[in-house]
Amino acid sequence: MKSRTHRNSPSLFSPIQFPLLKRTVAGLSLAVGLLLAPLALAVDDPGVRGGPAAAGEPLPGLTEVQLEFFEVGLEAFSATQGLGDGLGPRFNGDSCKMCHSQPAIGGTNPLTNPEIAIATAFGARNQIPSFLTPDGPAREARFIRNPDGSIDGGVHQLFVISGRVDNTGSASDCTIEQEDFESQVARDNVVFRIPTPVFGTGLMESIADTTILANMNRFSSEKRALGISGHPNHVAKTISRFGWKAQNLSMLFFSGEASNVELGITNQLLPVEREQDPDCQYAPVPNDSQMSNDVIAFPDLMTKIQNLANFMRFLAPPEPSPDTPGGAESIERGREHFIRTGCAMCHTPALTTNPSSTVEALQNKEANLFSDLLVHNMGPGLADNIAQGEAAGDEFRTAPLWGLGKRIFFLHDGRTTDLLVAIRAHRSRGNGRSQGNGRYGPSEANKVIAQFERLDAGEQQDMLNFLRSL
Ligand code: HEC
Ligand code: HEC
Repeated sequence: MKSRTHRNSPSLFSPIQFPLLKRTVAGLSLAVGLLLAPLALAVDDPGVRGGPAAAGEPLPGLTEVQLEFFEVGLEAFSATQGLGDGLGPRFNGDSCKMCHSQPAIGGTNPLTNPEIAIATAFGARNQIPSFLTPDGPAREARFIRNPDGSIDGGVHQLFVISGRVDNTGSASDCTIEQEDFESQVARDNVVFRIPTPVFGTGLMESIADTTILANMNRFSSEKRALGISGHPNHVAKTISRFGWKAQNLSMLFFSGEASNVELGITNQLLPVEREQDPDCQYAPVPNDSQMSNDVIAFPDLMTKIQNLANFMRFLAPPEPSPDTPGGAESIERGREHFIRTGCAMCHTPALTTNPSSTVEALQNKEANLFSDLLVHNMGPGLADNIAQGEAAGDEFRTAPLWGLGKRIFFLHDGRTTDLLVAIRAHRSRGNGRSQGNGRYGPSEANKVIAQFERLDAGEQQDMLNFLRSL
């Protein structure tokens, strides 16, 4: 992992060359040391934190029955779907776990992109689009516009089942074709999203709208001075909070949507296949249904999407490390710089969950998510030109930073593995660059990032250590 971050870093001397150099020019070591001092101080992302996963456990304080739901849900989340289960006809993956596995089940992209293998698994004949690489992130693709120029914005599934024969069925007679992604790439019409981790989502779900609004109105003069505004996204008059644009309301909705969009598994929330070619249906529709004739006893009444939702709800948030990387003092200083420079004006360190949640383990808990759950204008540099609900083409949910220490890829499209690059990408002048039709004002984070740049190297390193401790 370290080498991955070093490849992106501007440092000229690797830690191995450095002592060697010193030894060979023994007499001049002091002078060399002085000369290299600024380089030795170069700020560097410590990389993915080693040690145990520190995530993936159930919430403390669940009842016996809730723990059982967690286990059943974990099984559903990990289960590989085949043709006979309703996979496809168009799909991005064959299990939830596939894209949500780092550093534990429920997380995000693993080191090796699982989409590469799934493209041709079991005899399927899909091409690998150019934006997917073996050591890059798993991605979901959206098109900005339709061929006639009207707004699209939707997910276009990467793969089709045509030719696939797995142990649950055969799609050798299915002839639907994969979308032509390269022509969309050539027209600059395709944008990407990487998976977000689902640890602690039950806590996020249990934060009251009033808490989000009260936090939005805190420090209003400081925020105004920094150019930070931000607003909630809504679904059904409630503050929605899941996904890169806070476009989704709840774990149940996300389970229904991800089942349909990622796996092609139709369900009680989204019962209609996105691809309706009758020659390519190998399971009854909806694939996951509550009131089928298979229901013979009470436990069967639980649908897959309910089980998935329960698993995610009952997942504990990631555990931060008190002293790794860089030691406890550096991490503490980094936390102070994070607050002092204004990062915390968007990345709110903690929000408290609703005292009247129906699950005691979710009641009145401090969720250390480092997000205000609002969407902010991030300028043309990050804009993806996709509007969702009240989130515009350059607006994104303040990314929750809990679990950051174990993350491999950053930002909505997974454009970098380097924290420093991710931080600097927050800075963007208005109208500087236009993708598609995008014309946007400056990023709300510009002043905060300027303050970050004014920290000295040691202070910046403390901040990176703090972020990698999360
Ligand atoms: C092909 C990869 C892929 C697969 C398979 C996949 N996801 Fe995801 N997941 C994503 C991406 C990409 C996002 C971000 C989507 C967005 O914001 O537009 C995401 C986001 C989420 C989130 C939002 C969490 C948050 O706080 O933002 C949840 C919940 C989720 N997925 C659940 C699931 C479930 C349940 C399944 C299985 C039914 C699943 N995912 C399968 C790629 C995947
Ligand atoms: C104006 C609000 C705002 C401020 C100020 C801000 N951020 Fe962010 N941050 C965001 C948003 C929104 C995203 C998601 C952007 C995207 O993915 O396109 C994000 C993403 C990130 C990410 C990547 C997380 C991920 O899941 O990929 C890191 C790391 C981060 N911010 C750190 C910082 C640090 C450190 C500071 C202070 C120097 C800071 N941010 C200041 C809003 C803000």
